[in-house]
Amino acid sequence: MSGNRTFTMIKPDAVESGHIGNILVMICKVGFKIVAMKYTRLSKEKAGEFYAVHKERPFYGELVDFMSRGPIVVAILEKSNAVEDFRTLIGATNPANAAPGTIRSLYAKNVGENAVHGSDSDENAAIEGSFHFAGTEMFS
Ligand code: RTP
Ligand code: MG
Repeated sequence: MSGNRTFTMIKPDAVESGHIGNILVMICKVGFKIVAMKYTRLSKEKAGEFYAVHKERPFYGELVDFMSRGPIVVAILEKSNAVEDFRTLIGATNPANAAPGTIRSLYAKNVGENAVHGSDSDENAAIEGSFHFAGTEMFS
């Protein structure tokens, strides 16, 4: 059975470009409820920890530099079939392959600077949510 929560980050490129508002509108319009949200910034160390699964990939250093270069918005979102529906809303990792109307097709710059993160499984949604919101009150 699929879970009803996912975790997202609006990445530094989209924040710098002034897209926070438009992206949140898209998220809410398809029925996600925000249960926790924060405007924050990752240190290099924390960005590396968050994306540790990609440590051996050639783009890891670039990814850590990018994700720590400016503020981000992090949020836990609630909806039925949350992980899959959110991945559909954001579109493919590379905006060149993202379906029209998806967040990445509209706001991502390239495969690295791609505007938003969405958890890829219920298990990772829970881990990533705790990474940013451990001990924080949720408004379900
Ligand atoms: P995310 O985890 O951020 O939601 O992205 P994703 O699942 O669609 O893609 P993933 O394979 O998990 O990659 C994580 C992030 O690493 C950067 N990346 N750069 N230069 C490259 O070839 C490359 N490939 C991936 C992107 O920021 C990607 O979202
Ligand atoms: Mg991923």
